[in-house]
Amino acid sequence: MHSWMKLALAAIPLTVQTVLAQHVVDLTGDGWTVSSKALNISVPGHLPSQAHLDLYAANVIDDPYYGLNDFDLRWIPNNNWTYTSHPLREVSTKSKSSWLVFNGLDTFTTIELCGKFVGTTDNQFRQYSFDVSDIVSSCKSDPVLSLNFGSAPKIANKIAEDPMSEKWPYGPQQIYEFENRWYIRKEQSDFGWDWGPAFAPAGPWRDAYVVQFEKEESIYVLNTDLDIFRQGQINHLPPDQGNPWVVNASIDFLGSLPSNPSMHIEIKDVESGKVLKSAAVSGIHTSGQTITGSITVDADAPDLWWPSGMGKQNLYDTTITVNGEKQEALANVTKRTGFRTIYLNRLNITDDQLAQGIAPGANWHFEVNGQEFYAKGSNFIPPDAFWPRVTEEKMNRLFDAIVAGNQNMLRVWASGAYQPDFIYDIADERGVLLWSEFQFSDAMYPVNETFLEDVAAEVAYNVRRVNHHPSLALWAGGNEIESLELPLIQEADPDNYAYWVGQYEQLFISLILPIVYENSRSISYMPSSTNNGYLYVNLSATVPMAERYDNTTSGEYYSDTDHYNYDSSVAFDLSTYPIGRFANEFGYHSMPSLQTWRQAVDEEDLHFNSSTVMLRNHHYPPGGTETHNYKNTSMGMGEMTMAVERYYPIPDKQDSVANFSAWCHATQLFQADMYKNQIQYYRRGSGMPERQLGSLYWQLEDIWQAPTWAGIEYDGRWKVLHYVARDIYKPIIAAPYWNYTTGDLSVYVTSDLWKTARGTVNLTWIDLSGKPIKGNANTPASTHFTVGGLNTTKIFDTNIASLHLPDKENAVLVMSVQATGHLPNSENGAASTFTHRNKFTPVFSNKLALVDPKVEVSHDQKTGVFTVEAKGGVSLYTWLDYPAGVVGYFDDNAFTLLPGEKRKIGFTVQKDETNGKWVKDVTVQSLWDQTTK
Ligand SMILES: *[C@@H]1O[C@H](CO)[C@@H](O)[C@H](O)[C@H]1NC(C)=O
Ligand SMILES: *[C@@H]1O[C@H](CO)[C@@H](O)[C@H](O)[C@H]1NC(C)=O
Ligand SMILES: *[C@@H]1O[C@H](CO)[C@@H](O)[C@H](O)[C@H]1NC(C)=O
Ligand SMILES: *[C@@H]1O[C@H](CO)[C@@H](O)[C@H](O)[C@H]1NC(C)=O
Ligand SMILES: *[C@@H]1O[C@H](CO)[C@@H](O)[C@H](O)[C@H]1NC(C)=O
Ligand SMILES: *[C@@H]1O[C@H](CO)[C@@H](O)[C@H](O)[C@H]1NC(C)=O
Repeated sequence: MHSWMKLALAAIPLTVQTVLAQHVVDLTGDGWTVSSKALNISVPGHLPSQAHLDLYAANVIDDPYYGLNDFDLRWIPNNNWTYTSHPLREVSTKSKSSWLVFNGLDTFTTIELCGKFVGTTDNQFRQYSFDVSDIVSSCKSDPVLSLNFGSAPKIANKIAEDPMSEKWPYGPQQIYEFENRWYIRKEQSDFGWDWGPAFAPAGPWRDAYVVQFEKEESIYVLNTDLDIFRQGQINHLPPDQGNPWVVNASIDFLGSLPSNPSMHIEIKDVESGKVLKSAAVSGIHTSGQTITGSITVDADAPDLWWPSGMGKQNLYDTTITVNGEKQEALANVTKRTGFRTIYLNRLNITDDQLAQGIAPGANWHFEVNGQEFYAKGSNFIPPDAFWPRVTEEKMNRLFDAIVAGNQNMLRVWASGAYQPDFIYDIADERGVLLWSEFQFSDAMYPVNETFLEDVAAEVAYNVRRVNHHPSLALWAGGNEIESLELPLIQEADPDNYAYWVGQYEQLFISLILPIVYENSRSISYMPSSTNNGYLYVNLSATVPMAERYDNTTSGEYYSDTDHYNYDSSVAFDLSTYPIGRFANEFGYHSMPSLQTWRQAVDEEDLHFNSSTVMLRNHHYPPGGTETHNYKNTSMGMGEMTMAVERYYPIPDKQDSVANFSAWCHATQLFQADMYKNQIQYYRRGSGMPERQLGSLYWQLEDIWQAPTWAGIEYDGRWKVLHYVARDIYKPIIAAPYWNYTTGDLSVYVTSDLWKTARGTVNLTWIDLSGKPIKGNANTPASTHFTVGGLNTTKIFDTNIASLHLPDKENAVLVMSVQATGHLPNSENGAASTFTHRNKFTPVFSNKLALVDPKVEVSHDQKTGVFTVEAKGGVSLYTWLDYPAGVVGYFDDNAFTLLPGEKRKIGFTVQKDETNGKWVKDVTVQSLWDQTTK
């Protein structure tokens, strides 16, 4: 058993809900039993949980993440698992009415109470409630609840076999491991993905309650949709920032209301406790089990919520009270929220924009509170294959790393699960925008009536549930469906292409768009992650958003981009990168660190091509339940090897574990450099005709310990990538623009501040021993610059051939920026200083005439700070490493260190199980160490 795998239950969301005239029995906690009749297993269970977690806690199985358990534990999802409660003594048999409320069942469930059938469920993402009044009142003893979870892989296969089920041509339906995921509403990556395992877990994965009413006219709040928008706001149009705010509250409830209910809203500043507004709600209307009404707040009254780096994250507690006829409170609910507008601008480029040099086409960027900004971030995948063990502590550490990494936006990718409220709460506090997606990815989906009704309920529930979070930035229908699946289906079945496009539009436009708009005025919607925008929106049309698809003109830009190229020979060729308005996915995989591998594999498996290491790599996936995926994994492993061999010193150490570790590190160096090259390129695009305003790489973090695209490993350790991304996501950067075919080299300064910044860039050529290169190789030592808001400026332009470098293999250009500018919404309008250092070498790393930099690290007990020094020469990719048992990050890492420099580097401890002893085992290395035996 590993301490980092301890079972922990999901934290209770920050939302406070008070219950009046009602009796609520919380079903969370232990006291449950999980059993399989077929397998004759019965162990203690928990709620929320999943069968794998309870079997692991009971020592029936080994750690599911260890070795090849991904394959060896398939008997678990191939069987039914029944969760049975202890006798629920707290449930009264005398109540007027009784309900079962489930906030998440994964996925196919048959529910029984007191031995009687209650109902079934088939959607992991919905909230379900059942009237069990009759069952409870006739129950002979204390009620026992039983939840019989079916085998999702078997049920999906059974649906697929049904001749009545929809079928698609071979091509668009991307299979990772278990097949037929598109027929069922369950986390799609539970059936495998190219970065994760396929456990297909089952169980009550969210909280559940028994709700009982003691009298008529009592209500229990199931869900709250709090929508804060500027008066007149329409989802796909820019809000008028001068308009008052509308605070619209809509509550879904169980029970019944009196004939004349009223509502009250009080909005309180979280920090000061000051009441911003307290007012009776007007325009109250009830429809079915929902009561809705709104108040307004003066345009300038609230302090705005801003994303990280753009101002403060001002938050307000909003309490909505529903009152009966005598003004008695029937229920109240408090949501922590913020005032902001966030809008995805996909309007056609205007004449004014053309006059500024922006290329024609359409916009594709976000605006917060009416301001364009540069979105910097990455893609968020499920942080664990088992959501019930995703803790608030772990997510706090992850979001601290996101903010420390200079990221302001994550794309919450479309085939995990809708994020629990506590993650949105953490994002609200940190100022991390969450572009959120409905859970559909890399496939065509059914569009029969039953399926659409189920999706409609799922979409409405989740849109309403998270709408109050200021971090919510966008709703997208799904991932890579328009840009990838439609072309694949066109290729597979060209004669029926229009029919398939019709199906796509039926689900992602005709069904989902109106549900988003009905439940939120504040959030933009687009049907699929990468797209060319729309031609027009007509809300009364059957297809309310007419996609542009390929109705494009060359030389114009419309879209966000998704870019992968595993031919590493062009990894640094800028002309192979897409030109678009926003980059929402790009990347290349790398190995995790040795420390992380050791959490999951035996010591003898620590070889690059050991079967365990190879089979934990799921790129490329088997495309079925085959567990000996050597053929496909070899291709993915080979891509990493070839990339290293092309550009970096090839590790060849005598000690096999040291060699493995050096190889893992080398794949990370390639990955980080490649992302950096692309991010620099995209950011420079903010000042180019494409007006590029976002860069979100694939992917932020890992779901487990394996080779993937992640920048943060499963337990929170940063790969080289997360440090390098943090550096290149600084507000003002200097970066080379190098055409290695022609030798043309320019240096650009790029800024994502909103106002003009000024400063100097020092360009210094040195050789690898650290000595200046004669005449600074024809390069001006220092250049003043002015760079506009969200813009770029070229400060140097040359060709390598005209630099008269004595030896290209023994030359480094150090670019140092020192600038003054204003952070958006800075306190009192104060100016700030910005620095950035970058390096350029005119040959790739494996061609450099490296010298031993003699890099050393020391630790000051008193200040806790490390000092790094290079006594022998230039230390490239200076890498501080820390041992297992601690999680955290250095102030800087993977940096260039010049001889004579002393860099003081702190370490932020996020979690320490070594009692401080880890400091002794901090090491430092550089590119040189990749060359030693
Ligand atoms: C397994 O679970 C599914 C879903 O609840 C149910 O339909 C099926 O009858 C169950 N089978 C057994 C043998 O319990
Ligand atoms: C609709 O599609 C779902 C998922 O494929 C399937 O389970 C269901 O049987 C279908 N219903 C009808 C009426 O075709
Ligand atoms: C919500 O209801 C509870 C229970 O009656 C009460 O203590 C609390 O003050 C109420 N909150 C507000 C803000 O009205
Ligand atoms: C945007 O431009 C396209 C041409 O690319 C045109 O067909 C469309 O009508 C324009 N949309 C709007 C809303 O003006
Ligand atoms: C162009 O737009 C029309 C109208 O939206 C659509 O029917 C057609 O399929 C589009 N053409 C292409 C090539 O995408
Ligand atoms: C580099 O130069 C080659 C040859 O002129 C050209 O084809 C390529 O597009 C250039 N690349 C970039 C990124 O400018």
